[in-house]
Amino acid sequence: MQVDLHQSWSIGAVEIPTRVVLAPMAGVSVQAFRRQGRRHGAGLVCSEMVSCAGLHHGNERTLGYLRIAADEHPLAVQIFGSEPSVMAEAARMVADAGADIVDINFGCPVRKVTKTGAGATLLDDPARASAIVGAVASAVDLPVSVKMRRGLENGARTCLELGPRLVEAGAATLTLHPRSARQMYTGTADHALTAELVELVDVPVIASGDVTSRARAQAVLATTGAAAVMVGRAAQGNPWVLREILDGPAAEPSREEVVAELVLFMRETVRELGGRKAQGFLKKFYGWYLGRGRFPRQFKAELTQLDDLDEVERRLFAAAPGARFVLARLEQEQPDADEVTLDLPISIYGGG
Ligand SMILES: Cc1cc2nc3c(=O)[nH]c(=O)nc-3n(C[C@H](O)[C@H](O)[C@H](O)COP(=O)(O)O)c2cc1C
Repeated sequence: MQVDLHQSWSIGAVEIPTRVVLAPMAGVSVQAFRRQGRRHGAGLVCSEMVSCAGLHHGNERTLGYLRIAADEHPLAVQIFGSEPSVMAEAARMVADAGADIVDINFGCPVRKVTKTGAGATLLDDPARASAIVGAVASAVDLPVSVKMRRGLENGARTCLELGPRLVEAGAATLTLHPRSARQMYTGTADHALTAELVELVDVPVIASGDVTSRARAQAVLATTGAAAVMVGRAAQGNPWVLREILDGPAAEPSREEVVAELVLFMRETVRELGGRKAQGFLKKFYGWYLGRGRFPRQFKAELTQLDDLDEVERRLFAAAPGARFVLARLEQEQPDADEVTLDLPISIYGGG
């Protein structure tokens, strides 16, 4: 059975135009990544996880995660934390910033997060997890979604007990990445568990994990009954995979297209993070964009040695001169970020 990936669906009152969702990824899901994902067909994009404690303390860098561009919608902003009242306060800030959905992270397996009682730890504390969802759902008018793993330990089925409780507490959607926290990213995502969760709840379920192609997306949707698939690692430096999942096989992007998308991504990231921070942040993206046999290994390695982003651009254009024309078209087609970025009234949160 072929599922129509262009069919819209809803999270609460928010209409999601396609069944492909771009995953939240810390250190990746900047605004440039999300806007690019929307342009290439993602029906919903998500911010990386944002610390509710950072928002509470008015940390300027954390507040920066709440900058949303007008062409990102629909967009979920994901928050993490362990105190229901602080999570509720963070959710209100997310709503004020203009997000469409507040997403709660109950899946992060990284020690820095779990040792604070947040992320995946909450899978084993159903009372607190439900209290967080309840507090967030009462604090905002936006739909609330929860992203979780299967449980803490390998083979755990915790998500099947917790999921219905979270829906009862107010979750309008659940995203399941059916790996355990212990697994991190090893092994495979067990979507048999996603199918079981779909049977247990009456809200849409998003299936996350190992969706890398149209065939895989179709198989996951058909066998689980999930409302949508979420795509993470496969979209790193590869927005074209989103189109392929939606529309079927397409020609590989040309070298000119690859360079144009990368340079646009670099320029937007500089605007968002500032030049100095962007330099280091962008290095991993060179390999992601230029890999997959698109450019010689040596070329990628040379770029990562450079700190001067103008020099990186110069070398990219030298390797694919026609990219300038593709880039000009892309820049013309999408509104300037400066025009669409909503001014976040940082001062009201004391963020400087
Ligand atoms: C670098 C990286 C950062 C991630 N950061 C987050 C995050 O901030 N919040 C979250 O819920 N999941 C996060 N994830 C998990 C992804 O959203 C997704 O569930 C997981 O990668 C499985 O999907 P995939 O096989 O399509 O990559 C991250 C994954 C990666 C690889």
